[in-house]
Amino acid sequence: MVEIVPSILSADFARLGEEIARVEAAGVRMLHLDVMDGHFVPNMTIGPPVVESIRRVTRLRLDVHLMIEKPERHIESFIAAGADQVSVHQETCPHLDRTLRFIQSLGATAGVVLNPATSLSTLDYVLPVADFVLLMTVNPGFGGQELIPYCLGKIRDLADRRSRLGLTFPIEIDGGVNGDNLVELVRAGADWIVTGSSVFRSADPAATVAEMMRLAAQATAVRV
Ligand code: DX5
Ligand code: ZN
Repeated sequence: MVEIVPSILSADFARLGEEIARVEAAGVRMLHLDVMDGHFVPNMTIGPPVVESIRRVTRLRLDVHLMIEKPERHIESFIAAGADQVSVHQETCPHLDRTLRFIQSLGATAGVVLNPATSLSTLDYVLPVADFVLLMTVNPGFGGQELIPYCLGKIRDLADRRSRLGLTFPIEIDGGVNGDNLVELVRAGADWIVTGSSVFRSADPAATVAEMMRLAAQATAVRV
């Protein structure tokens, strides 16, 4: 089933609880939390204390996207704070296999993320280990950017590899998704659709999410 996964990056952090409640009421099942360190990406965001506060106000699955150097140093704190899923960038993990298994050993779901320019072939050997793969469809660091068009072919290629290998991991995508490109992204093979500014900068986030869920369900029916 395709999931719409709101990213709080573009939410109003002074009213975060209310913002989360709105999208939860619309029926989403996961919430995407972007962690940035000002090194791997130019921006800085939240750490484990904020994840812990969010954990107290929602039952949604917390999908923590680590855009930080040396993520293995912080994985345990994010899981202790309430992360259900943790994804790490291939570009930050010289011991990717170990890092994914470490996340799993702590009881969380382990994802690996690729920047737009990073080849799928970097995951050849580790695909059977990852619980999900997140393809960045913008360069990470900021909300509100435009989707990079070549990423569409990359989603298709990953979906092809997945079926050739007989694997079933979900493909998550992140960045630049809106109501206009959602359908082709789902048709290309995306299962979990992260969306930040389209939702939280809209007049009615709950209605926007509901509409995106409707479009995604419709697109799944005619997936190629
Ligand atoms: C970007 C983050 C995204 C961001 C997406 O580096 O990883 O999760 O919130 O925002 P939009 O949907 O506005 O591109
Ligand atoms: Zn993200």
